[in-house]
Amino acid sequence: MNELDIFPIDTVRDASGHLSVGGCDVVDLAAEFGTPLYIYDEATIRANCRAYLQPLRAQYANASITYAGKAYLDPTILGIVREEGLGLDVVSGGEITLALAAGFQAADIVFHGNNKLPAELALALDAGVGRFAIDGEDDLRALSGLADETGRTARVILRLTPGISAHTHEYIRTGMLDSKFGTPISTGDAERLVRLALDSPGIELVGYHAHIGSQIFDVEPLADNATALVEFALAMQERHGADFSVLSPGGGSGVRYVGADDGLDIGLLVGAIVDAVRAALPPGHEPELILEPGRSIIAPAGVALYEVGTLKTIPGVRTYVAVDGGMADNIRPALYQAEYTAILAGREPAGPTETVSIVGRYCESGDILIQGIELPELRRGDLLAMPTAGAYSLALASNYNMSLRPAVVVVNDGQPRLSRRRETYDDLLAHFP
Ligand SMILES: Cc1ncc(COP(=O)(O)O)c(C=O)c1O
Repeated sequence: MNELDIFPIDTVRDASGHLSVGGCDVVDLAAEFGTPLYIYDEATIRANCRAYLQPLRAQYANASITYAGKAYLDPTILGIVREEGLGLDVVSGGEITLALAAGFQAADIVFHGNNKLPAELALALDAGVGRFAIDGEDDLRALSGLADETGRTARVILRLTPGISAHTHEYIRTGMLDSKFGTPISTGDAERLVRLALDSPGIELVGYHAHIGSQIFDVEPLADNATALVEFALAMQERHGADFSVLSPGGGSGVRYVGADDGLDIGLLVGAIVDAVRAALPPGHEPELILEPGRSIIAPAGVALYEVGTLKTIPGVRTYVAVDGGMADNIRPALYQAEYTAILAGREPAGPTETVSIVGRYCESGDILIQGIELPELRRGDLLAMPTAGAYSLALASNYNMSLRPAVVVVNDGQPRLSRRRETYDDLLAHFP
C-alpha cells in the first residue's frame, strides 16, 4: 500500500522527505501554528461534497445534501460546504449559533436532537430554521407549544427507528428498536406520533427521517432504511392523509481509517438509495430526498499532526511513544476502539523500524491513539501525521487535564488559513467567575 493512500488528495512527500498537504509543508505548519495541529485539505472537502451532490442530482433532481456538522464544525469549513451547495444539520443551540454567525441561511438548516432544550427550540424558531427533525412525542409537544405561543409554524420531519441494525460499533448504531434516538415503527409509536403531529398547532408535518448509524460499509442496510422510510410514509398517507414532501434517510457511510479498511464508494451508495426510493414510490411522486453525510465529507480531509515527546521501552514488552496530544483531542480510540494509522511526517521514513504504541499525554492508561504500529525508529521532536482525523475527533475534544484544544488550519494551493486558534490558558481561566 502507498503510505499516502488514505491521506487527503493533495498530500505528497517532497524531495526533503517532508510531508506536504494542500501544498503546505507540515514542518512549516508545525513551526507556525504549533502542535498538535489539525490540518484540513480544502480540495478534499470539496471533492467529497461533489462526490455526493453530482451523482445524486444526476439521478434525482429534487435532492439535497445537508452536512452533519457534529462531525466537525468551524466557520471556514462551513463556508466551504455552503459554497459547494450543501445545507447543514445541527444538534444544538451552539451549532445553530455558529452556523448563523458564519452566514449560513437558517432555512438551509435541519435541527436534530433527542432532547432539544426549550431555549434551543426557541432559538431555532426565532432564527427561522428550515426543518426540525422531531425525535418523539415530548420533543413534538415542546416545539408545538412554543410555535403556537409565538404564532409560528415549524416544518417537521419525524425521526423514526426502522428496526434496521447496521454492522458498526454499538455506540454508533442508532436504527434498532433499543435506541435512545427516534420513534419506533414496529411498536405503533411512530404512527401515533404522526397522528399527534397532524393534530398539533404550529406544526406542519412535511416528512420522515431515519439514521441507522455511522461508519457503515454495507450499502444494503442504508438502502433498506430508505425503503422503510418510503413504505412508512405511504402507509401514513393512506391511513391518515399525511402527505409528505421530504424523505431523509440520514448519513452513515464509512471511511477508511487504516489501509485495510474497505471504504464505501459514495456513487454506489447514492445510486442504491435513489433506486430504493424510486422502487418504493408510486410513479410521478418525487419528494425531496435529503442525505446527511458527516464523516465521509470531513474525515478524509483531516490530518492530525503530533510531535513525539517521551519514549519508554519495556524490554520484551512494548515501546510507548508519547505525543503531545491524545484523548483530549481525539477520544475515538479510547471511546470505541477506533483504529488509526500514522506516518513520519518531518523526515524520510528510512532506517530500521520497530513496532510501537502511540500514546497520548493525558492521565488515563486508556489514552492510546494507536495500539501497535510499525514505524521507523522514532526520536523526540519527530512529527507524526495521522490521516482520516477530520471527523468526531476535535468535535469530541475536551479540556481534560486542563489541556488546551489544538489549532486548526485549512490548507489550499500552498496557503494555510487558521480556522480555529489554539486555546490559551486565559481561555481556560475565562470560564471561572
Ligand atoms: C441524524 C444524523 N444524521 C447524520 C449523521 C451523520 O452521520 P455520519 O457522520 O456517519 O455520516 C448523524 C451522526 O451520528 C446523525 O445522528
